[in-house]
Amino acid sequence: MQSKDPKTTRNVLITGASRGIGRETALTLAEKGFRVWAGVRDPGVASELEKEAAHRAGILHCVRLDVTDEVSRSQAIETILERDHCIHALVNNAGIVRLAYFEDLTLEEIREIFEANLFGAMALTRKVIPVMRPARNGRIVMMSSIGGRIGSMASTGYAASKFALEGFSESLWLELAPLNIHVSIIEPGIVGTDIWDRENRVAHGARDGSSPYQDWFERAQTLADSLVASATVTPRQVAMAVHRALTEPRPALRYVIGNRAKSVLALRRVLPNWLFEKVYFGQILKRVTGGR
Ligand SMILES: NC(=O)c1ccc[n+]([C@@H]2O[C@H](COP(=O)([O-])OP(=O)(O)OC[C@H]3O[C@@H](n4cnc5c(N)ncnc54)[C@H](OP(=O)(O)O)[C@@H]3O)[C@@H](O)[C@H]2O)c1
Repeated sequence: MQSKDPKTTRNVLITGASRGIGRETALTLAEKGFRVWAGVRDPGVASELEKEAAHRAGILHCVRLDVTDEVSRSQAIETILERDHCIHALVNNAGIVRLAYFEDLTLEEIREIFEANLFGAMALTRKVIPVMRPARNGRIVMMSSIGGRIGSMASTGYAASKFALEGFSESLWLELAPLNIHVSIIEPGIVGTDIWDRENRVAHGARDGSSPYQDWFERAQTLADSLVASATVTPRQVAMAVHRALTEPRPALRYVIGNRAKSVLALRRVLPNWLFEKVYFGQILKRVTGGR
């Protein structure tokens, strides 16, 4: 049985663990010896996920968790504390995408994105800090994106939520570092998961064909599809980065995953702004609008 000493119990709660990056991260962390609490909205996935973890010789429990629902958040944290008496790590992974040009995106849709991608993460983080602070021990990982560093078309709501998550996380890093609670931000490039299914990702206003941006939106989607189809970053690579953030003695603030993402950020670092805008954004604009 694992010790209940918060300094030695390596338990972790990961949100959005039913699919994609969250699922692989939960299974990888279990395989590597973490006691994993996999946050899922649909308890129907629990037995399959727990079986897969056992197959990888890991310990994983599912806990029902909708990050946008306060009752659900409180119950999930209570369940973990009742069993483990501590929370060593939180991985805020749950997230959604709603793509449309800004005029076609309603404020309600933008709020929905922020509830899942930002406020849900903030609210859960607010619940674990008082548990970690007295223990002077903790790790908090935020699943951002290359889309949290660089904007793209039809992505105003998603990019805004991830840029906000970056600002929140960097500031929190400063506040919590003196308490031995480390905050890390994971920034993957494109990973081929369900998040990219057209049914999931396209916002309502971009569907009915009457948008003044219809042609550009479609071309931007074709470009996105080709980037997804040629993506080389895997959920396992992202999971391994999360593992590093949770285990390195001095975890980095940011982990960028994937060569494409690293190259674009390097380009932005070395080029003057005007040249980056011309070279990088210019070629995207050209492909989508023909250079208008
Ligand atoms: N895939 C990429 O290219 C990529 C790149 C960079 C960053 N990311 C980020 O990585 C994270 C995971 O993305 P993914 O690609 O793995 O997407 P995914 O396959 O669509 O999985 C999303 C996960 O989030 C969960 N979720 C959504 N809303 C939730 C809510 N309100 N409460 C709790 N769980 C919720 C989903 O649960 P259900 O099964 O219940 O819907 C699912 O488990 C996101 O934050 C995303 O922004 C993804």
